[in-house]
Amino acid sequence: MAKKVLGISFGRKMSNCDIMVKQALMECEKAGFEVAFMRGDDLNVSNCTGCIACTVGMIMEKGRGYCVRHDDFDILDECLMQSDAVILACPTYETSVTGRFKTICDRIGPSHDITFRKALYDKGMAEGRPEAELPDARTFKKRTAALISVGGAMTENWIALTLPMMYEFTFPIGIDVVDTVEYYGAMAHESVLGYPEMMERMTKVGQNIVDSLNAETEEERIKWRGDEEGVCPICHTRMLQVSHDAKTVDCVVCGSHGTLEVVDGKIKVHFTEEEQKRSRLKWGGKLEHSTEIKTQAQPAGTIKNLKELKAPYAQFNPGVFEPDPNSYGNIKK
Ligand SMILES: Cc1cc2nc3c(=O)[nH]c(=O)nc-3n(C[C@H](O)[C@H](O)[C@H](O)COP(=O)(O)O)c2cc1C
Repeated sequence: MAKKVLGISFGRKMSNCDIMVKQALMECEKAGFEVAFMRGDDLNVSNCTGCIACTVGMIMEKGRGYCVRHDDFDILDECLMQSDAVILACPTYETSVTGRFKTICDRIGPSHDITFRKALYDKGMAEGRPEAELPDARTFKKRTAALISVGGAMTENWIALTLPMMYEFTFPIGIDVVDTVEYYGAMAHESVLGYPEMMERMTKVGQNIVDSLNAETEEERIKWRGDEEGVCPICHTRMLQVSHDAKTVDCVVCGSHGTLEVVDGKIKVHFTEEEQKRSRLKWGGKLEHSTEIKTQAQPAGTIKNLKELKAPYAQFNPGVFEPDPNSYGNIKK
């Protein structure tokens, strides 16, 4: 059976993201893979309410790692489960991903975190429970991804947070990102179709995914195929957070921790092998997090008089400001 590539665009209909994803998908189809395309904005997906029933359900061995809400996220989820690779393109809104992209990421993780799901799946199978009662086994399939961020602004720092945030889609189920493209200055062209070099790069995105899917070894499958090595050796992004004492740095995207130095005028980070294993892009980093939650999160009922403690806050409801009758805001008078 042919491997499957899922493309998702979070942009406007037939605008830059749609076309860029389709160009990469066409290349995958040419190479014999089955492809599917969806538009984030065609999906009616509601926000995560924060109930954490997905995670608690897995910890208590009652759930399968699914959301209690059923909407078009289920369509995306089924496509994701079938896929062997994903190609995502997201516009930049306010220097970051779109609201819908973020909504979908919240619905993916933590319910899809492979360490939560695998622990329950393995235990259930060992106990002879029916597979249909356990997390979807397709979650554990090895997958690769290419991420494409798009911004209209001519200045690169106006798209700075988009690509880093796009990893929120891929890391919970351990999808290995093998290529990324940051396309800024999109508004300098009526359409990306008027920028042949970028369209060629999208062809390359497709070829890189094909290359990864055809790899014979795991090392070859996850090989980084982006244009630049980046700063972080794990996720290849360039977004670092300086610690409070200003002595160490963390990769904001993958959580690798280490030191920074300037070698021959260039900034270099040093993340030890041990620290790299703790990256949330790796099994070890995700397991550390899920174990932390399983062992340290306090269950309901720990604070005996919580209702009483909450009472003054429940009663304190100042409401919203009345519209100013002398101003020209957006509320119809
Ligand atoms: C609400 C909103 C905020 C935006 N903010 C940014 C921004 O911070 N940086 C940027 O480069 N472009 C920004 N843009 C421009 C879009 O990124 C640009 O139009 C992009 O091409 C949209 O992708 P699409 O063509 O696939 O729909 C913004 C657009 C909208 C609608």
